Amino acid sequence: MMRSDRFRVIVAVSSLLALAGGLGARGVLGAERDAAAERPWMNTALSADERAKLLERAMTLEEKFGLLHGKVGSAFRGEPKPDGAIGSAGYIPGIPRLGVPALQESDAGLGVTNPNNVRPGDVATALPASLALAATWSPELAYKSGVVIGTEARRKGINVMLAGGMNLAREPRNGRNFEYFGEDPLLAGTLAGEAVRGIQSQNVISTIKHFALNDQETGRQVLDARIAEDAARESDLLAFQIAIERGKPGAIMCAYNRVNGDYACGNDWLLNRVLKLDWKYPGWVMSDWGAVHDVDYALKGLDQESGEQIDSQVFFDEPLKRAVAAGAVPQARISDMVRRVLRSMFAVGLFDAPDARGPIDFDAHARDARQVAENAVVVLRNEHATLPLARTTRKIAVIGGYAESGVISGGGSSQVNPVGGPALVAPLGGEGQFAFWRAINVQPSSPLRAIRALLAAGSEALFVDGRYPQEAARLAATADVAIVFGIQWMSENFDAPDLSLPQGQDELIRAVAAANPRTVVVLETGGPVLMPWVDKTAAVVAAWYPGQRGGEAIANVLFGAAEPGGRLPITFPASESQLPHPEIPGIGVRLGTPFTLEYRSGADVGYRDFARRAQKPLFPFGHGLSYTTFAYGGLEATGTTDLTVSFTVTNTGPRPGYAVPQIYLTAARGQADLRLLGFDKALLAPSETKRFAVQVDPRLLAKYSTAARGWQIAAGKYEIALGASSGELVARTEHELRARKLDP
Ligand code: BGC
Repeated sequence: MMRSDRFRVIVAVSSLLALAGGLGARGVLGAERDAAAERPWMNTALSADERAKLLERAMTLEEKFGLLHGKVGSAFRGEPKPDGAIGSAGYIPGIPRLGVPALQESDAGLGVTNPNNVRPGDVATALPASLALAATWSPELAYKSGVVIGTEARRKGINVMLAGGMNLAREPRNGRNFEYFGEDPLLAGTLAGEAVRGIQSQNVISTIKHFALNDQETGRQVLDARIAEDAARESDLLAFQIAIERGKPGAIMCAYNRVNGDYACGNDWLLNRVLKLDWKYPGWVMSDWGAVHDVDYALKGLDQESGEQIDSQVFFDEPLKRAVAAGAVPQARISDMVRRVLRSMFAVGLFDAPDARGPIDFDAHARDARQVAENAVVVLRNEHATLPLARTTRKIAVIGGYAESGVISGGGSSQVNPVGGPALVAPLGGEGQFAFWRAINVQPSSPLRAIRALLAAGSEALFVDGRYPQEAARLAATADVAIVFGIQWMSENFDAPDLSLPQGQDELIRAVAAANPRTVVVLETGGPVLMPWVDKTAAVVAAWYPGQRGGEAIANVLFGAAEPGGRLPITFPASESQLPHPEIPGIGVRLGTPFTLEYRSGADVGYRDFARRAQKPLFPFGHGLSYTTFAYGGLEATGTTDLTVSFTVTNTGPRPGYAVPQIYLTAARGQADLRLLGFDKALLAPSETKRFAVQVDPRLLAKYSTAARGWQIAAGKYEIALGASSGELVARTEHELRARKLDP
């Protein structure tokens, strides 16, 4: 139903009620006018801002405050689930008198979660991790994933998704990198923005989070991330800025950590200056759960306190009322906070879209999940064209990684209860507040079963669990090919102490590779890992956490039933000594002790830092092989202010394949620099040639000037390169740009 239809229905119903109430004599038109006069904010001809203003004016002070704070949306610390809550991460009661719907807020970016089984038995499509989505380099698939999540949320009666996790991967050991979109502002911002746009297309608000610089879990509640303003604007903030422009998220979730001294949720510079003033963000800022420490955050730009029981007190209720009464917080600011919430609710359609609770087409969504997973698999290494494997391979040894049961997923608030339930849950033990998250949830998509399904008659795949390297090696020695799975479980609240594959898996892989030179390693990880055995293997693929159809996706790519479409959204270092912080900052610090985290590499995140320090990674950002070959040519840059880069790619091999051409800035006015300027992706048939044209966001060519308060492109020559990855640039051109200034 269109918004205006919905308005008409409400008016019509009011008209009938009016007639039944004996107002018939005044006529239908009069009653319609009354209804419209009663709820003028339901007039869809008005803008979201106008509607929010009208509604806010009709609210009592008590009603306004009700929108500014909310509880955990399920039973919590002895308190029952709030009345009216569907059961999810957060709940803000509605205002029936005025027709304001409650906000039912659920995690998160990999699918609709069901924490502690609060909605008994409720399942959802478990999509590949956001890092996997980033590895697709496909804005279209990001949007499609968002549509899946938004559709399922809406069918479940959830109208806010705490999705859009997109902190830049500054720290490859960060336990939440799998929830984010990698290390590059353009790639992360574009794909996160598209995912949010997809969710919101279903009349479900999405956040973008965690704003900002919440780039590691160690000390996330206490660390102070320190970075120069220009560096932040050109990296982490630019990623958010691009995502906000594309996705128009209804809300921004501020982070736990401090940024340059102040907590992110009470950070005047971050929220008032950058987000609301410079970027003109019209929606609301909600806190992360337990991230509010003072009532004056209302003045610093926070609009809504979430998960209020976790804070030391409910700041945005009585304390805020007292602050308003005392004149410390202006009444106008309360109106602004309320209007921001309402504005997003109107803009995304929460008032106008009809209730859509009902069944979900999980089969269709499973196909989408598989398509994303296939497009996300990155073939890192493929010696002697070992891949794709022949279906007639006589005997295959499949080893480790729970491959007989399924594929692993990441832990924490984003953990989805997949359709069919997890294949198994392997507790990892441990203690502390978040010990309950320490379990490997294996999603029900067995790579072993999928491999067997692809094999020709007379071929076989045999499995051992990999706990004993010699047993695995013995099986591998008798096989034509060995496929060994390496898993790295990651979770919110826990960083990996280092980049090794845990629990002796390096030893396992070494033993298998020594027994069979045709060893293929399949990695299911939450980010990069070290590969001390890489030279001994025939092939390595990164499948990330591939979601509830991940087993099929892996098998399809290994056997060439699907073309590998993934490229690295994050650098794989050769060793931890190459990282800006060889050890995770704060790792030795006693829990809860504040520390500062200096981002000395500034805007040079990931591959940019590797380039600046002339370090050679194990696999560079953007890398990923195909089963065919490509030739690149015709590189041309045009435009003196707005830059467009065009080029051709030809599939020169014998089979179709995904090309993911990438454009980089390599030098600006004679100074070496490395920045992704643009990318595209296309499936090319053998011999097919395609011409691409990439429009470059001028901020990627600019420097941020704090003195001039904006972006500046200096006049001069810019060197632009085309390639298959940041480490494989095949053509270069120089281009003259005019000086230009841009708003912050
Ligand atoms: C996480 C958020 C999440 C929230 C609600 C927090 O611990 O940092 O990402 O949305 O909990 O579950």
